[in-house]
Amino acid sequence: MALPEGHPLADGRTASSPLVRAARGDRPETLPVWFMRQAGRSLPEYRASRAGVEMLDACLDPALAAEITLQPVRRHGVDAAVFFSDIVIPVLLAGVGVRIVPGRGPVLDEPVRTPADVMALRPIDPEALAPISEAVAIVARELGDKPVIGFGGAPYTLASYLVEGGPSKDQLRTRALMRTDPHTWSQLLNWCADVTGAFLQAQVRAGASVVQLFDSWAGSLSRDDYIRRVAPHSQRAFSWLRGLEVPRIHFGLGMGEMLDALPKIGADVIGIDWRLPLDEANRRLGGTMPLQGNIDAAFLTAPWPLVERHVRDVVERGSEAPAHIVNLGHGVPPETDPDVLSRIVDLVHDL
Ligand code: CP3
Repeated sequence: MALPEGHPLADGRTASSPLVRAARGDRPETLPVWFMRQAGRSLPEYRASRAGVEMLDACLDPALAAEITLQPVRRHGVDAAVFFSDIVIPVLLAGVGVRIVPGRGPVLDEPVRTPADVMALRPIDPEALAPISEAVAIVARELGDKPVIGFGGAPYTLASYLVEGGPSKDQLRTRALMRTDPHTWSQLLNWCADVTGAFLQAQVRAGASVVQLFDSWAGSLSRDDYIRRVAPHSQRAFSWLRGLEVPRIHFGLGMGEMLDALPKIGADVIGIDWRLPLDEANRRLGGTMPLQGNIDAAFLTAPWPLVERHVRDVVERGSEAPAHIVNLGHGVPPETDPDVLSRIVDLVHDL
């Protein structure tokens, strides 16, 4: 499968954007910057758009999802839009009952824990992805030469929501399933890889020029378990993009001990959380990979001179890597003053 004709990366619109160039290992004149969770509660225009609309309903309304995706690009001048959706959307589209409970996160109607539960999971009907494709197409058209980033949840993070039935601190039930029933485990992770893979593929075909896989909970695993029991499934999720030559970012939290496993799953850029300085991450990766990150969100409420010093430090450490995409070390906290984000964008572009 190749990128469709008229795709913004195939027809050259986004190919020389700073984000795509950096993701391919180049050093463009301006450093690209975007923020995980840039579309969301920190923006008053987001809160207005979402008033009276459930989170997952908003994700499935193409005009609304496109509008919310574009809001932070208009406001902050970031180098990319990240598609407004959620990692559980493909789970929902595959027929599994899930809601997002405000202040908590995704909650399943029924957890998926037994071999029978896993056997009952069905693939996504490709037609169910139509609202996603439609929304991404609107955004790509509006943005012109600025890329849209598509994303999906990594199989382990998705599986943890399915098994736990909701957010959990330590993913204990999930890891217990991995230990006690390796066959059911690999079936469940394959299912998660395939729904996420189909979701990623739909976004890319509709016009996303870059993708990011989020493994928010992988840090709860040992290095060995990650490499043996999880990484092959993340690789399977990326394999849905075979032939679709868009750069792939992998972002996980707390993965400092297993960074070197990430290039092997097919990632082109490694997202680093706030725990590990970028120069050290680069050293652990042997100086071979473009990095993304890793402004500590804990600075966002500090007086500007402290923010500025920290951002300069991140950029300086990032300069040791072959290429750098500036981002936070995790998502924008809802209480962030959006003006601070706009100032960070201006600062990064001036550096
Ligand atoms: O701007 C963006 O980054 C794009 C959109 C995006 C959302 N969720 C929108 C969202 C992305 C990339 C995600 C990914 C996501 N969702 C992850 C992986 C990244 C991470 O943060 O680790 C995870 C674990 C989820 C699951 C999820 N969805 C959680 C934990 C929550 C927060 C619940 C809460 O109220 O605090 C959500 C809801 C969610 N997803 C919101 C947004 C903007 C908040 C919804 C609201 O406005 O109430």
